[in-house]
Amino acid sequence: MHPALQPPRPIRELPDELISQIAAGEVVERPASVVRELVDNALDAGATQITVRLLAGGVRLISVEDNGVGIPAAELAIALKRHATSKIDSLHELESVGTMGFRGEALAAIHSVSELSLLSRTAQQDSAMLLDGRSGELQPVARAQGTTVEVKELFYSTPARRKFLKTDNTELAHCVESVRRHALTRPEVGFAIWHEGKLVEQWRAQQGDGALDRRLADVLGDDFVRDSVAVHYQSGHLTVVGRAGIPDAARARSDHQYAYVNGRYVRDKVMTHAARSAYEDVLHGQRQPVYALYLEIDPTRVDVNVHPTKIEVRFREGREVHQAIRHGVENALAIPRATRMGDGAAPLKGLSEGGAARNDSGLPVKDTMPAQHPSSPAWPNAHWQQAAMPLTGNRVNDLGQLWQPHARTPLMAQEDTARFAPATDTAGNLGPTPSDSLSSPSSASQGAAPSQGSGDSALPDGTWPLGKALAQLHGIYILAENTQGLVLVDMHAAHERIVYEQLKQQMDVQAMASQPLLIPATFHATAQEVATAEACAEALLELGLEMSALSAKTLAVRAVPSSLAQGDAVALARSVLAELQQHDASTVVQRARNELLATMACHGAVRANRRLTLDEMNGLLRQMEVTERSDQCNHGRPTWRQLSVRELDALFLRGR
Ligand SMILES: Nc1ncnc2c1ncn2[C@@H]1O[C@H](COP(=O)(O)OP(=O)(O)O)[C@@H](O)[C@H]1O
Ligand SMILES: [Mg+2]
Repeated sequence: MHPALQPPRPIRELPDELISQIAAGEVVERPASVVRELVDNALDAGATQITVRLLAGGVRLISVEDNGVGIPAAELAIALKRHATSKIDSLHELESVGTMGFRGEALAAIHSVSELSLLSRTAQQDSAMLLDGRSGELQPVARAQGTTVEVKELFYSTPARRKFLKTDNTELAHCVESVRRHALTRPEVGFAIWHEGKLVEQWRAQQGDGALDRRLADVLGDDFVRDSVAVHYQSGHLTVVGRAGIPDAARARSDHQYAYVNGRYVRDKVMTHAARSAYEDVLHGQRQPVYALYLEIDPTRVDVNVHPTKIEVRFREGREVHQAIRHGVENALAIPRATRMGDGAAPLKGLSEGGAARNDSGLPVKDTMPAQHPSSPAWPNAHWQQAAMPLTGNRVNDLGQLWQPHARTPLMAQEDTARFAPATDTAGNLGPTPSDSLSSPSSASQGAAPSQGSGDSALPDGTWPLGKALAQLHGIYILAENTQGLVLVDMHAAHERIVYEQLKQQMDVQAMASQPLLIPATFHATAQEVATAEACAEALLELGLEMSALSAKTLAVRAVPSSLAQGDAVALARSVLAELQQHDASTVVQRARNELLATMACHGAVRANRRLTLDEMNGLLRQMEVTERSDQCNHGRPTWRQLSVRELDALFLRGR
């Protein structure tokens, strides 16, 4: 007989232990969950040193030892009770909780599925007291101030659970990861992890300036810090700090993505999506960025009591959080690497990593690369202001008009010479320009920027971050010399990015120009497409797309972006509608716009096999130095590589 058909039993309250065991099912999934809860407690107790000892991946023993405030002897037994906590005592406090724990169920849950003992001493006690969780016996033992929680034989009473556990090594790896998540947010606390009597990890307490960076290097490796940029962003009550990996450091897996809310490690869709979208424009394919991002937010604007393990949170204003993370990371990534590193030259004041993407007022600067540049003589690019480039049209054929090096001094702007010659295949009407009318910023200017061979240069050629052009290789690469050695530039990829960024900037000022179709393109649409077209008419117009419904199932495209007038209007309309359905209109406008501009930029960029003069090559290098995101082409591939003299020496076995 089906159990549901049995005569009902009377309703009874479940015994406490069973309730805890049920709760344990949510809180304690594997040894790593116990480690997480116990380390949470140690941190809440103000510990500065936490030692985790494990046997058999934590299944046989998990012991977490801290030097925190301790638990008074009289409270040891209460600590093991369900819903017993010292951390909140009102709903009001729950709403602004600042501790890791507050539910008062971890110890009770763990206790119900293991053999647990609590050993603790407060500052007021002469000796420590040990509580045997099973017998309830208390006895004095020797110990300094702090607490040790010992958890033995996890899931001994629930063999079904135990069967789900993986090998010891896998469980150990999860335990280490669990401590790592804490270590990355509390650099001032020292951590040690032992397994089977061997020290597995040790992260020493870090104090003072750069403590977080040192901890990040200890835990995630020197590479992580070297190949990442500092994030510093503030908007209203939100602050985002941390480090975001450069696109080159992205991995196949998303295992180096750490996000924190008020010091709590979380897996949050809004944050993950925001971080990923910051890489949209620079990351190739399915690669996963690496980052450690710390969001500080007014605790009353985030609900941490959503999930028993508190790994999920709910934001009151998710959109603001999304924007803060996205802009914070985007701004940090925008600065070209060569200029950021300073190429070993005088440090670029104001462009140092901590100062990246902020202006004097400390507020984030958006998409205003030149404004971020210090006017320090150590870096002459600073004098170059992005010349206002009037958008005279935005058909692909007009792109040549945009190609004037945007890094020009006002002086240079008066001259009409500094033009980076357009490729003949996209602006055929212009034809090859005589090379003497082409100039790079460095040679076109008099005095403002050093020119090759000009005596008054404040800066020798070698100190340009991307160096001085030497030659062109196979019509594809530019070779340049800088203080570190050889720079190799993929000419088309680099120029494509420059044109793309220029187009984006122009488009920020003016709306996308649109061109009416002589004969509207009609197509059979779904009810949802029709609804979206009507609801988002305004967003579509911004993109240069005009659509109207001819019937409940037919849409007509009446105008398309001028630059894409030759394309398939229906395919364009469909893909934009599909995007609009999924996301909110503003991000689609942004993304679709960028995609359109990228297509235009690709057509507009200098083609392979076009011979460039040295001046043109230098012009391109100087543009790269002042163009946001110029380290990656529009498809996320690198645009340049550095080969240091040391690497070259190694190639030739010099000095061996
Ligand atoms: N390592 C520790 N040091 C000091 N107090 C502790 C420690 N671990 C647990 N406690 C005390 O035991 C209580 C219950 O812990 P727990 O079950 O994890 O619930 P919560 O952390 O949600 O309060 C805590 O509120 C705290 O007072
Ligand atoms: Mg707790």
